[in-house]
Amino acid sequence: MRSVVLGVGSYLPERVLANEELATLVDTSDEWIVQRTGIKERRIAAPGETTSMLGERAARAALAAAGLAPEDIDLIVVGTSTPDYTFPSTATQIQAALGVHRGVAFDLQAVCSGFVFALATADKFLRSGSHKRALVIGAETFSRIIDWTDRTTCVLFGDGAGAMVLEARESAGSMDERGVLTTHLRSDGRHRAKLHVDGGPSATQTVGHLRMEGKEVFRFAVGQVTDVVVDAFAATGYTAKDLQWFVPHQANRRIIDMSAAKLGIAQEKIVATVHLHGNTSAASIPLALAVAAGDGRIGRGDLVMLEAVGGGFTWGSALIRW
Ligand code: ACO
Repeated sequence: MRSVVLGVGSYLPERVLANEELATLVDTSDEWIVQRTGIKERRIAAPGETTSMLGERAARAALAAAGLAPEDIDLIVVGTSTPDYTFPSTATQIQAALGVHRGVAFDLQAVCSGFVFALATADKFLRSGSHKRALVIGAETFSRIIDWTDRTTCVLFGDGAGAMVLEARESAGSMDERGVLTTHLRSDGRHRAKLHVDGGPSATQTVGHLRMEGKEVFRFAVGQVTDVVVDAFAATGYTAKDLQWFVPHQANRRIIDMSAAKLGIAQEKIVATVHLHGNTSAASIPLALAVAAGDGRIGRGDLVMLEAVGGGFTWGSALIRW
């Protein structure tokens, strides 16, 4: 059994927050932000617009691309660190909004690795034969946990959602057949202090704000994270040369370029949307996939490598025959 991608979709809030406007809020500049991160602008959810609302819209777009209806879905996995509520889960909120009343829906929290963790989890469900069609969603409203007076973090993040529809299909196991070929997940909780939110229901009874040691995160993202891509190559026998597309977590253009160079992945194979979206955490990879599939870059049969890193630290890869 293999999980085959049937469609991807995304949703971005309407409000654009450009670097020039940010420079009126904190002591920063378009030049500093672009030079350090590549980010030009990001989207910000409207008041009252929640993570599940963004996720539902992305899910509907992915279903339309797949040519399916909500009732065709029996598994919904949502990667998010900014749920509407502590509970019920964002996944069950989206399930209800879509009008799906069967199967199972749950959230998964791995910060910016959330989509790759959700994809790996859904893939294991589908391969087991327990479920037939999955919606894998990354949806975030990081604008709600940003300290808008902290210029070292508020320039980096944005809101949005992306989704993918997967279907379980019989497979002879060949690497040429479509589907998720391999996934590799890792975490190391010793790094909590480097990237965390300083609030939460059990510890502080507050929502809290994102705190980050930027240089440490940068060092880890470039130094360590490529191991999961190397694992994916080892598991499948492919090399960087075989890839059509590299779709990494969109945190920072410098991290993306340095990771690709370290892995020997050619610059023209990188899908980058960070300049337009900022870092949308778990939503960043499916947003980038939706852009590159939508404009015809990623096509049937392409070999696509996903790679993500997030707070925890968590990190992971997924290699897909599209
Ligand atoms: N505008 C202008 N100046 C700034 C800004 C800003 N927005 N932010 C910081 N500075 C200043 C600093 O105060 C410092 O000034 P000083 O030298 O007078 O003290 C100077 O710029 C340099 O600061 P550094 O922190 O050394 O800058 P650095 O080159 O490390 O770049 C950055 C900072 C962009 C945050 C970088 O470290 C980075 O990209 N780190 C990774 C962050 C990331 O991707 N996080 C998300 C991970 S995924 C997840 O799970 C959420």
